[in-house]
Amino acid sequence: MNSIKTAFAKAIADSLGQDPLVVAGAIARPPDVQMGQFAFPCFSLAKTLRKAPQAIAVDLANTVVAPEGALVSAVGGYLNLKLKPGVLARLAVTEALTLEPGLPVTDSGKGRNVLVDYSSPNAGKELVYHHIRSTVIGAALCRIYAAAGWNVVAVNHLGDWGTQFGKLIAMWLAEHNEDREAALADLSQVTLATLNRMYVGFKPAAQARPELEDLARAWFAKLEEKEPFARTCWERFIEVSIAALSEVYTRFGAKFDHFLGESFYEDKLVATIARIEKAGILEESEGAQVVRVGDDIPPCLIRKSDGATLYATRDLAAAIWRQERFQTDRALYVVDAGQSLHFKQVFAVLERMNEVCAKGCVHVPFGLVLGKNEEGQWSKVSTRSGTGAPLPDVLDRAVVRIRETMEALAKNRNPEPEGKEKERFTPEELDKLAESLGVGALVFNELKNRRLIDTKFDLDSILSFEGDTGPYIQFAHVRLAGILRKVGMLPDPAKARWELLGEPQTEDVLSLLTQFGERIDGAVEGNEPSSIAQYALELAEKIHSFTHHHRVLDVEATPERLLLVMAAKKTLAAALTLLGLDPVERM
Ligand code: ARG
Repeated sequence: MNSIKTAFAKAIADSLGQDPLVVAGAIARPPDVQMGQFAFPCFSLAKTLRKAPQAIAVDLANTVVAPEGALVSAVGGYLNLKLKPGVLARLAVTEALTLEPGLPVTDSGKGRNVLVDYSSPNAGKELVYHHIRSTVIGAALCRIYAAAGWNVVAVNHLGDWGTQFGKLIAMWLAEHNEDREAALADLSQVTLATLNRMYVGFKPAAQARPELEDLARAWFAKLEEKEPFARTCWERFIEVSIAALSEVYTRFGAKFDHFLGESFYEDKLVATIARIEKAGILEESEGAQVVRVGDDIPPCLIRKSDGATLYATRDLAAAIWRQERFQTDRALYVVDAGQSLHFKQVFAVLERMNEVCAKGCVHVPFGLVLGKNEEGQWSKVSTRSGTGAPLPDVLDRAVVRIRETMEALAKNRNPEPEGKEKERFTPEELDKLAESLGVGALVFNELKNRRLIDTKFDLDSILSFEGDTGPYIQFAHVRLAGILRKVGMLPDPAKARWELLGEPQTEDVLSLLTQFGERIDGAVEGNEPSSIAQYALELAEKIHSFTHHHRVLDVEATPERLLLVMAAKKTLAAALTLLGLDPVERM
């Protein structure tokens, strides 16, 4: 399909005497397949050619040599390209059949490196529901970039440093009556629940025993000095945090090449500050050290007056270190929109330092997760108020709910005919299916809209099999899989009579199949997984409409329709996988 587009662009460029790349960039998709596959808008040429766009389109239609298998025509101010009957089907199906899991779909990012900093929660406490956003958006972006041919490095910038670890150590010791031996001996018993209890319990404990605040500060200072007791406790706390996180990440299929927490940059801060100083941009301000980054935003604080470094200092060190280590062309920071100012400051400092990485740094912000409050209104689910449930619990809840739905459906289903008994699910299979559908539904809800739009957490609609939901799309895939299970061998594409795939609903599916690569490139362009989510949704809708209108088995066009079904299934499975949903075969 890409070769057709390139040939079309070249033919227009030859006729106009323009750069084919510029022409290709202007070529769009007509809103309706019946109008064709590509459209070249002539509006911007009107001024230079001193002619109406419609007249330019007519001229082009007369002069442009149509690529093989295609016809060109003027439609309003556009030059449209429509593939001849059969050609669209042949191209769409044969291309889709070459899709292989794990292999890139396009090569737009070939040879380039992208680093994706995502999820990156603060350690020492449990994940709350809203942490799903960075995690699933980041994981999807990693897969989407890889599908566009990029080399991807996924990094978790764990919040594993700061005074909160002094608090945890002080609490742990207090719980052992200040007996260090006992506290050390018990470290193996620490779980995430222990850490969370101490994290939440610190405030009330410090109200009862005010000296706890000083102790916590002192313990963090000792941690910074690498004092063995503090260090041993901290290491165990981080180990426990990462283990718990990894369990959640596995459920999302979220993978990291590196856990490089904030602590990793501790010994690189002196050099980072020296580098800033050398660039001549470090200024004193009320005893603190800052870098000015323009009149419209506050200066970036590098070191406080008491000598303490900050979140931003560590991000500066991280950006420089990552650039040197991974030679990145682009670095994405998938972090909520609330940190926009922070990233503006950090990137501006990097720019003033003339760091190579400055150009490729991109903050990929996203909106909030809204939940219903007591009054039934959508509101921010706050971690502190305790309204945010732990993320693993919500995943479990979704899985249980969808399993109940499936069991109810199975009960209401007509009894299976003799011999079909074995098609029923074993309890283990049902568990696995419910996990795929339940977690997938939550993931899809987070990805379906543009990322800056706040998402709404309402389990009933999220888990529904109707509407723009994960289960709806999964069901379209199941339908295709069901058709293919009924046939033994796939027909030979070389013998296909492609012109039999000419009905409108069929062409809708075909047209979408040819757009998969473009949508992937678009998702990379905008760092917007919703492009793929919306694509999957459209494809599922068109598949439902196709299977509703056309019999696949036992008709004249069966071989061709089967090939289409296979092609659509492969493409839908690939789109689902990019989003982080399992393409399930049965339900
Ligand atoms: N740990 C931070 C938080 O929970 C997010 C870190 C994002 N990544 C970064 N490089 N700053 O708010």
